Amino acid sequence: MWGGRFSKSIDDAFARLNASFGFDWRLYDADIRGSIAYAKALARVGIVSETERDTLMDGLTRVKAEFDARKFETKATDEDIHTAVERRLGELVGTVAGKLHTGRSRNDQVATDTRLFVLTAIRNTQYAIRALQSAIVQKAEQHSDVLMPGYTHMQRAQLVLFAHWLMSFFWMLQRDLERFGDAAERTAVLPLGAGAIAGNTIGTDREFLARELGFRTISANSIDAVSDRDFIAEFLFDAALLGVHLSRLGEDLVLYSSAEFGFVTMDDAYATGSSLMPQKKNPDAMELARGKAARLIGDLTTLLTLLKGLPSSYDKDLQEDKEPLFDAVDTLDALLPVVAGVVRTMRVNRDKMRDALDTAMLATDLADYLVRRGMPFREAHRNAGEAVKLAETRGVELSELSAADYQKIAPEFGADVKDVFDFGQSVASREIAGGTGPNAVRAQIAAAKQIANVL
Ligand code: ARG
Repeated sequence: MWGGRFSKSIDDAFARLNASFGFDWRLYDADIRGSIAYAKALARVGIVSETERDTLMDGLTRVKAEFDARKFETKATDEDIHTAVERRLGELVGTVAGKLHTGRSRNDQVATDTRLFVLTAIRNTQYAIRALQSAIVQKAEQHSDVLMPGYTHMQRAQLVLFAHWLMSFFWMLQRDLERFGDAAERTAVLPLGAGAIAGNTIGTDREFLARELGFRTISANSIDAVSDRDFIAEFLFDAALLGVHLSRLGEDLVLYSSAEFGFVTMDDAYATGSSLMPQKKNPDAMELARGKAARLIGDLTTLLTLLKGLPSSYDKDLQEDKEPLFDAVDTLDALLPVVAGVVRTMRVNRDKMRDALDTAMLATDLADYLVRRGMPFREAHRNAGEAVKLAETRGVELSELSAADYQKIAPEFGADVKDVFDFGQSVASREIAGGTGPNAVRAQIAAAKQIANVL
């Protein structure tokens, strides 16, 4: 490929270090699509005849078929996917294959291929996020009247609907999905035509190439075009943040499926046993959701570290961009359907959640009661706090204090104070938009279904 200038072939160990075919073969579809479009662009400027173009396109289609059928035979000299495809094309169609690389460099080629790969990965990830979102919406709808303790600082805080807790993850995922969409906008910028660094002399129609390959627009600077891996960094950030969200869901579900909570039960299909303790049922799926976030963050860190301090334009370091990218794509591919399966199949234990409610969680409602009687909130907060303290010293529920006890704390407390100790009422009184009131949650779910196009 560059033999003309060299007097001996490269060292074996170095060849192994230098080669990327072992992983970048995965770009074959993108690489061949790019080359087919490029053959057309070459014909438009007369570098190849129409017959030659057709020969090239035909040969490239045959190379792709070999890859598709997992029948592509690798040679030790195949440094990367680009040289492998060109080598095989030469074997199939002869010397005309040598015209394909006119005006093109592997620098603009690999940047183009990787962008095509990322665009496909973004679409697949968005589909997988949608599937998880619909599992969430369905589960929330099926259990729309289940009450549960809401926690802050992992301490019982206020009552919420189980559906409200679950739907909070819908919105995180919605932001993830939109973030991937934003990244796609900046990924769909065509580098091809940038050559090695300076553009090309043959005047390929870059707008034509962009249209052929489904890019939104063309890059404005050939140095930036071969240098830019921001689109991978963005993809990896979006993947890492999605991983963090799945990890937080994982943590909630690991806790909630423990005997101490028992709020949900994992389906057997998504749990594992212990090789030693016969009674164990472990929430491995959600533990892995937590664990996989670590490697997604690692993938992002690898890429940012790779780019930091790199001279502009193309450097071979950039070949190291692919493994973290592929790893993140594979991780999300494996993880998202499992998390969707866990949510779809988990059993929701209404009674366990009911048992975990206590009237101390209604202390805010108690303060609100006094506020409705004209007391400033700060004072109401202190009075409700005193009631909590009194109940705690007596070892009784807040609802078990007598009307006289309450009157002693504040004369504003009437006999109707006992109405405060109604769990359903507590939730029902929070019908503010975005709150946990049943109607508010119904509206939230309806909005989510519209956004996500879930039926
Ligand atoms: N395998 C290389 C990569 O992934 C392709 C580009 C090689 N370019 C070069 N000038 N050696 O980055």
